[in-house]
Amino acid sequence: MSPVEAKNQIQAIIAELRQHNYNYYVLAMPTISDFDFDKKLEQLSQLEKDFPEFAEPDSPTQRVGGFVTKEFVTVKHRWPMLSLGNTYNEQELVDFDQRIRKAIGDNFEYVCELKFDGLSMSLTYQSGKLIRAVTRGDGTQGDEVTTNVRTIHSIPKKLTAGDYPDLFEIRGEVFMHLKAFEKLNKERTDNGEVPYANPRNFASGTIKLQDSAEVAKRPLDCFLYGLYTEKTLFKTHWESLEAVKSWGFHIDDHSRLCSDINGVLNFINYWDKERFNLSYDIDGIVIKVNNYSQQQELGFTSKSPRWAISYKFKAERVETELLQVTYQVGRTGAVTPVANLKPVLLAGTTVKRATLHNADEITERLKLHEHDTVFVEKGGEIIPKIISVNLDKRKPNAKAITYITHCPACNTPLLRTEGEAAWYCPNDEGCPPQIVGKMQHFIGRKAMDIDGLGDETIETLHARGFINHISDIYQLHNHAAELKQMGRFGEKSINNMLEGIEKSKQMPFEKVLFGLGIRYIGETVAKKLALHFKTIDKMMVASLEDLVTAEEIGERIAQSLMEYFANEKHQHEIEKLKAQGLQFVVEEKEVNLASNKLAGQSFIISGVFETFSRDELKDIIEQNGGKILSSISAKLSYLVAGENMGPAKLEKAQKLNIPIITDQALMAMIG
Ligand code: IVH
Repeated sequence: MSPVEAKNQIQAIIAELRQHNYNYYVLAMPTISDFDFDKKLEQLSQLEKDFPEFAEPDSPTQRVGGFVTKEFVTVKHRWPMLSLGNTYNEQELVDFDQRIRKAIGDNFEYVCELKFDGLSMSLTYQSGKLIRAVTRGDGTQGDEVTTNVRTIHSIPKKLTAGDYPDLFEIRGEVFMHLKAFEKLNKERTDNGEVPYANPRNFASGTIKLQDSAEVAKRPLDCFLYGLYTEKTLFKTHWESLEAVKSWGFHIDDHSRLCSDINGVLNFINYWDKERFNLSYDIDGIVIKVNNYSQQQELGFTSKSPRWAISYKFKAERVETELLQVTYQVGRTGAVTPVANLKPVLLAGTTVKRATLHNADEITERLKLHEHDTVFVEKGGEIIPKIISVNLDKRKPNAKAITYITHCPACNTPLLRTEGEAAWYCPNDEGCPPQIVGKMQHFIGRKAMDIDGLGDETIETLHARGFINHISDIYQLHNHAAELKQMGRFGEKSINNMLEGIEKSKQMPFEKVLFGLGIRYIGETVAKKLALHFKTIDKMMVASLEDLVTAEEIGERIAQSLMEYFANEKHQHEIEKLKAQGLQFVVEEKEVNLASNKLAGQSFIISGVFETFSRDELKDIIEQNGGKILSSISAKLSYLVAGENMGPAKLEKAQKLNIPIITDQALMAMIG
């Protein structure tokens, strides 16, 4: 390779790896497998060795990797959070073993642990209390996410047992169980939101949320695997694991002590198959020298310890034939392409379908042709993914697959908003899967929860021409006789259904708002909007600026609401539902709190709180006679401060000598 070629190649790989690092750490949406990433890193490292004159000081080979996001306070790690060297085959492990033997002789043991596929977290405890939780960030400094981490049940907030030191750090991996991931991801797609690719991304997206109440709703778990103290308390890593377990930390019981590399290889081979029976994802095995003084002897390279290494499982990959690409239309009109495959056994299950995400995946990334032979992988992702096409097996005359231009259900030309990946069918009034999907969403358990009316009945009633809009559901009582005549439903089930429909008119405004199925308005957002605006009338006339003043409402959601309410058909439907007696106003709670305790006092609430949302605190203040101000001035009585409050606000309040109180102090004021 000529020097010019080498220089160009080095620069190209660096640019590519930087993008992947950004996708992984900042966007939490990686587009490359760890295996392929490491391969590229290795290639770069080799090129830099061969052509040192072109090696850049901040090349991805020189850094631990990662970025620090802006929303949280950045905290420097007391001990850097290093990464591990990766190996992918037995030979590399045997080489690792030999390096260790050369350095410390033959008298040592290994601890083998599962390599949990989540995000690493450093927890600091002082006097037995969890005082700080920090993400890995770039390895030197990370984000302080204590409030969110406090919502994780398996992490003790206060230690009750054991001889723990006054100050220590403990590190581990935060992750989400597969079942919870599937359930929550389905809710996301039901809300018209982009699903997370895998549980790791979901866990890291959750930890970075600004609203800890929302974090608490997403069950996360954490396995701890490393204790850090000023003075060494134990002789071995194994002993320290046993001790921290007795202090109340969640330690994975699958770890094993191995006396030599053969034991390690057996452990690896066992888990390579058995991992699919775990309730969480692992992506490899971590191998650590057990004895701390031997660890010290071995030391570190600039990026990772010499006494530990990770063995990464290869995602299982199989070849199969693409039979056909089909398209599904969701209730929001978004079209999702699906690859139908010749059934093939992969990671213990028969795979018949794979996600294709969007049009670009078919025509740009994979450039799929009819009856292509494709490589399918099931790594961290639950749904298998087509990794690439086996071009050697493509038939010479195979036709390229083009994305559909018209809705597969109603034949309306599809549209794509600039900057978005998905194509939409705009025919929301006439496209059957959208009409049925919207009504099914409305009657769902999390929305109006209508007794006696299920998804299939909605389909039947729509097919028979009884219902086309949500408001038609509330006209069904006028068709009781016709429904009976149909012979499809018994009298009792018709009565149950009509009773359920009637009863649903009492469901609170937030449920109705969620049930309308407005894009990006999930359950929590609907609740926040209802709490903030109190009535749909106020919400409908709100400007974009008004909408974004509500807690957690960003521009994307505000825009979606504006578009929805601007549509005359939607306005008409809301009027009908109002006339039918559905709730479009927040029911004022009885003001039975000690209502005058805060009279004459004014408040501003800022930051994130562990127990209450900001809107809840506002409500409490108002119900006790207090006033909420919108900006800090000398007139303000108190600033109620939570975590991660903006520094400008804090500074202004301090300058004006305004008392800064916690939410607990506020509670104490109202008794
Ligand atoms: S030990 C000095 N043990 O893997 C390195 N890490 O590439 C200390 N991980 O950042 C890490 N399971 O997020 C260790 N049992 C385990 C692990 C584990 C998962 C992650 C961790 C770390 C990364 C290293």
